[in-house]
Amino acid sequence: MTAVEPFDTVDLIRTKRGRGTLSTAEIDWLVDAYTRGYVADEQMAALAMAIFLNGMDRREVRDLTLAMIASGERMSFDGLGKVTVDKHSTGGVGDKTTLPLAPLVASFGVAVPQLSGRGLGHTGGTLDKLESIPGWQASLSNARMREVLADVGAVVCAAGSGLAPADKKLYALRDVTGTVECIPLIASSIMSKKIAEGTGALVLDVKFGSGAFLQDIEQSRALARTMVELGQDAGVATTALLTDMDVPLGRTIGNALEVRESVEVLAGGGPADLVELTLALATEMLQLAGLPDADPAAALADGRAMDTWRRMIAAQGGEPSAPLPTARETHVVTAPRSGVLTEQQGLPFGIAAWRLGAGRARAQDPVQAGAGIELHAKPGDAVTTGQPLFTLHTDEPARFDRALDALEGAWGIGDTAPERGSIVRERIGR
Ligand code: URA
Repeated sequence: MTAVEPFDTVDLIRTKRGRGTLSTAEIDWLVDAYTRGYVADEQMAALAMAIFLNGMDRREVRDLTLAMIASGERMSFDGLGKVTVDKHSTGGVGDKTTLPLAPLVASFGVAVPQLSGRGLGHTGGTLDKLESIPGWQASLSNARMREVLADVGAVVCAAGSGLAPADKKLYALRDVTGTVECIPLIASSIMSKKIAEGTGALVLDVKFGSGAFLQDIEQSRALARTMVELGQDAGVATTALLTDMDVPLGRTIGNALEVRESVEVLAGGGPADLVELTLALATEMLQLAGLPDADPAAALADGRAMDTWRRMIAAQGGEPSAPLPTARETHVVTAPRSGVLTEQQGLPFGIAAWRLGAGRARAQDPVQAGAGIELHAKPGDAVTTGQPLFTLHTDEPARFDRALDALEGAWGIGDTAPERGSIVRERIGR
C-alpha cells in the first residue's frame, strides 16, 4: 500500500500564488516530498515562481532552511578542541579572499572548515583556483577533514553531496526557471548548506555592485539581514559585511593568477583592496571566535599566516613551492590617452576572464589554470598614453576577440579621479 500524502501540492502552490503563508508542517512535507520525487519539478518551479513574486515571511524562510538541512547529513565538529568559524561570500570578480583568509584565521588556533564550490559563469570558484597548485586535491573524507582541522586548522575542500540535497535539486531548478534572484530562496539555500556544515560561527561577505550577484545595495542588505537572522535562529553566531564589488577585487582575475596574488598577501604585500577585505573579514571571524584582541595584520607581516598556508596546501597533496601554471599566450591592452582610469566594471571583466578560459559555461567543462586578466591599473590611477592597462592570458589565442568584446565600454580614462569609498560599507549583526 502506498503511504497517503498529508497535503496536496496544488493547494500549496495556490496558497503562495494568493499571497498566503505555508505552515511549518506544509513546508516540511513539501521539501521532503520534493527530495523523494513525489512533488514534480514543474510543481516546484511554479511554487518557486510564486515565492519569487510574493515572498515568504521570516518563519517560512526559517522553516524552509531547517527542512533543507534535514534533507541530508549534518556535520559536527564537536570534540575537535577548537572553535570553528567559517566565511561565505556571495561571490564576485577576482574575489580570492578565502585563500589568504582561511590560513590567516587558522594561524590563531581557530578551525576554519571552508566547504567550497567550483565556478559557474563569471564568478570563479575557490576550488578551481586551488586546483591550479600542482598536486592539490579538493576531495577529502570527513575523517581526513577533521584530522587536518585539528592539526593545521584550515581546510578548503569540496562539499560532499550529502549536505542539503534538497537545496541542490531546488537550486538547479531555480537556475533554469528564472527564480534565482529571490531573497528568501537565496538566503535559505546558502544558510541550509552553511548550517549543515556544522560551523560554530559564520561571517558572511555579501557583495553589491556591478560584479555582484545582487547589484543593488538595498537588496544585498536585505539578503544579509535575512541570513544573519537565520544563522542566529539556528544557534550559529553570524555577522555580515556588505562589501563593494563594483570593481574587480585586487589586480588579478583567473585561477593561478589569483593564487599568486593571494600568496603575495600572505607574504605581507598584495593590493590594498584585497588586504583591506581580508583583514576586515579576519577581524570579524576572530571576534566571533572569542579573540577580539587578535591582530591579523601582524600575522600577515611576520609569516605566521604563510606558514599555515604552506601546511594547509601540503595537507591536501599540493606543493606550495612549485611554480604555478601560466597561459601560453598573452595580449596587452594599452592606454589610448593619458589621464586617470575612471572605471573598471566588475561584471564585464569577469565575463572576459571567463571567455579567456578561466571559467566554465557548463558544470562538466574544464577550466584553464593560467587563463585570466592582470589589471595593471585600478580606478583612480594616473595613466599615460601607451602604458599597459590590462594583460589578457589564455592558452587559446582565438579567445582574445570575444574577451575584448566583453571589455568594450567597461573601462574609461578621464581627467578626474572617481570617488571611491572603502570596500566594507556596513556591518550587520550583533
Ligand atoms: N548561492 C547559493 O548557494 N544559493 C543561491 O540561491 C544563490 C547563490
